[in-house]
Amino acid sequence: MAILSGSGRVAGIVGWPVTHSRSPRLHGFWLDRHAIDGAYVPLAVRPEQFATAIRGLVAAGFAGCNVTAPHKLSAFEICDAVDESAHRAGAVNTLVFSDGRITGSNTDGYGFLANLRAHGIEVMDGPALVLGAGGAARAVAAALLGAGIDVTIANRTRAKAEALARDLPGLRIVDWQHRGTALADQALVVNTTSLGMSGHDPLGLDLSQAPDKLVVADIVYVPLETPLLAAARGRGLRAVEGLGMLLHQAVPGFHAWFGVRPQVDEELRRFVAAGLIAQ
Ligand SMILES: NC(=O)c1ccc[n+]([C@@H]2O[C@H](COP(=O)([O-])OP(=O)(O)OC[C@H]3O[C@@H](n4cnc5c(N)ncnc54)[C@H](OP(=O)(O)O)[C@@H]3O)[C@@H](O)[C@H]2O)c1
Repeated sequence: MAILSGSGRVAGIVGWPVTHSRSPRLHGFWLDRHAIDGAYVPLAVRPEQFATAIRGLVAAGFAGCNVTAPHKLSAFEICDAVDESAHRAGAVNTLVFSDGRITGSNTDGYGFLANLRAHGIEVMDGPALVLGAGGAARAVAAALLGAGIDVTIANRTRAKAEALARDLPGLRIVDWQHRGTALADQALVVNTTSLGMSGHDPLGLDLSQAPDKLVVADIVYVPLETPLLAAARGRGLRAVEGLGMLLHQAVPGFHAWFGVRPQVDEELRRFVAAGLIAQ
């Protein structure tokens, strides 16, 4: 059981809204597992109150926090220093407070790559196609490029893909309607759009031209098995679910705030997945 004394370490997640966040359940599992004197709390903060709230957390002695929509750009701006991952992604999801200073990073790209590795997949095996050009696409594409991969992006709104390509040198673009034929040259395809999420249309992606070695990753994790992943498995392709990325992206923050590098394992995955089903 986690303990909470007057000298406990406290972190949390700042979002608006924040009710949908799985992070309190995830970090709460690790706090219990390691019997840590500390807490991780959800914090609903309106956009116009973001800077005041963060300064308040620093003043109140918080160890840091995660930041989710719509605050990831404001979080970048409030930092005294940001690391390379935040620079590449142009957004911050993890803040660490130390001696009154705020340091920011973006762990989404790390989480994505760590999840692939946990599935025994080495991204160096070939080029990747990223579908989408939103915040998550930026972090995933930046991490893949940083790992030395050739990355092509396809997005419904081409102007957003072009904006991303301006920020991430080396990123190629293919038209959204050509995403199926573009698969022929890829080792990895990643869905970073919201298509396939519960309540959204499925992602239409014709896998018939896909090479047999193609790895199909979806970062959508509600449902766990998206129509894209089901179609990939049906074609005999390797499929990687999005929940693992969520679990892995939480590791660096927990380590920084609570001093323990936690494990991502099947027990954690089942615990967080059960929370998704219950909602
Ligand atoms: N597993 C994880 O840890 C993790 C982390 C972050 C995000 N996610 C998931 O990733 C997804 C995207 O998140 P985000 O923050 O990047 O969202 P976002 O910034 O709002 O971007 C949404 C993306 O989806 C595309 N899209 C939306 N509706 C579409 C449609 N009908 N047809 C084609 N494209 C469509 C958008 O294209 P346009 O530019 O054309 O609008 C855009 O590229 C969400 O499902 C989120 O839950 C998972």
